[in-house]
Amino acid sequence: MVLVTGAAGYIGSHVCIALLDAGLDVVAVDNLCNSSKASLERVQSICGRTLVFRHADIRNEDVIYDALRAYGVTAVVHLAGLKAVGDSNIRPMTYYENNVLGTMRLVSAMKRANVKSLVFSSSATVYGIPNYLPLDEKHPLGPTNPYGRTKLVIEEMLKDLCGSDDGWRIGNLRYFNPVGAHESGLVGEDPIGVPSNLLPFVAQVAIGRREKLQIWGNDYATPDGTGIRDFIHVVDLASGHLSALRHLIKPGVLTVNLGTGNGSSVLEVVRTFEAVSGRSVPYEVKERRAGDVAACFADPTFAMDALGWKSTRSLQQMCADHWRWQLQNPNGYHGSELPKVRERPRHLHRRA
Ligand code: NAD
Ligand code: WQD
Repeated sequence: MVLVTGAAGYIGSHVCIALLDAGLDVVAVDNLCNSSKASLERVQSICGRTLVFRHADIRNEDVIYDALRAYGVTAVVHLAGLKAVGDSNIRPMTYYENNVLGTMRLVSAMKRANVKSLVFSSSATVYGIPNYLPLDEKHPLGPTNPYGRTKLVIEEMLKDLCGSDDGWRIGNLRYFNPVGAHESGLVGEDPIGVPSNLLPFVAQVAIGRREKLQIWGNDYATPDGTGIRDFIHVVDLASGHLSALRHLIKPGVLTVNLGTGNGSSVLEVVRTFEAVSGRSVPYEVKERRAGDVAACFADPTFAMDALGWKSTRSLQQMCADHWRWQLQNPNGYHGSELPKVRERPRHLHRRA
């Protein structure tokens, strides 16, 4: 049994699918501060399997401890956290309290329950401004915002924990830019308010919810002048968690990039999205966004060596799947009924 924190969120819901599809049982924990339980209902629909949902905050150590014991949990995938870079500049202590203190409480509960296998959602943002590309795991660390610093503090904390007790097996997964959605179009990213990330914004322009995209700068030292990022399909990313769980055999910390190794520019994303959706994505070029770097992409070699994992999905597929989700759920999870599931057996089961 695997306990997944932040399970109802964008990446968490796809991780739950990967785990259920692999035959593992899942306890899904989420306080729903940035998500909806509807995502987990759809996860169960897609997989034709049930999971246990606990509406709980990871800072509530006793509740987490009870869940670990009650369901015989053997490993935890920890995705719960606040993730908005701009917001973290405005209310940094909220980020430290939720992300760092939350992880401390979670780990305390795990220690009490003698569950010592953990896969943690870190971020490529821990690298800060690249000294060289592609970014390998040995690149110096220097996050440039409070959100990124919470991720680095947690990584360091988990390293110290492993140093103190060789019973722990921990995987720090440094995600690059997760995009796309499950191929069913039933689960995907459902940002609240104006999206700050590129793909959700592009998708909302394509469907007519927003007039045009603002491209933050076209004067970078890149082939077309726009920023380059390592976009990774969320389903590939989710499968990386399964690989990590399977490779948590040796004691200690394993820190791994989850990226494709390919950089795509903002303009390439816009063109690809237009091609797969058949819609136009009007844009205007604006000043650079503060804190952005010209290019950022992973060296994914170590993920292959350590986990036997690599991404397989193309930018076309990322855009096509993102578009399907947007088209089928123009208002995200809100106000839309559960669309019909095709092909897979349906066995929807709801738990309080
Ligand atoms: P998300 O907001 O969709 O999911 C996070 C989930 O955690 C939400 O469902 C939220 O309700 C829940 N949550 C937050 N605080 C909680 C708490 N104290 N107790 C219980 N539940 C809580 O975000 P996501 O994109 O799915 O990101 C998942 C993880 O991956 C986060 O830790 C994020 O920092 C990390 N990450 C995300 C990205 C990205 O671009 N999406 C990139 C790198 C790392
Ligand atoms: C990508 C590119 C923008 C929006 C962020 C976080 C990072 C990680 C992933 C969690 C850049 C450009 C964007 C728009 C644009 N999250 N852009 N117009 O900034 O690489 O990473 O999400 O760990 O910590 O910082 O992703 O999608 O915001 O931007 O031109 O409306 O798209 O300038 O070049 P980013 P993004």
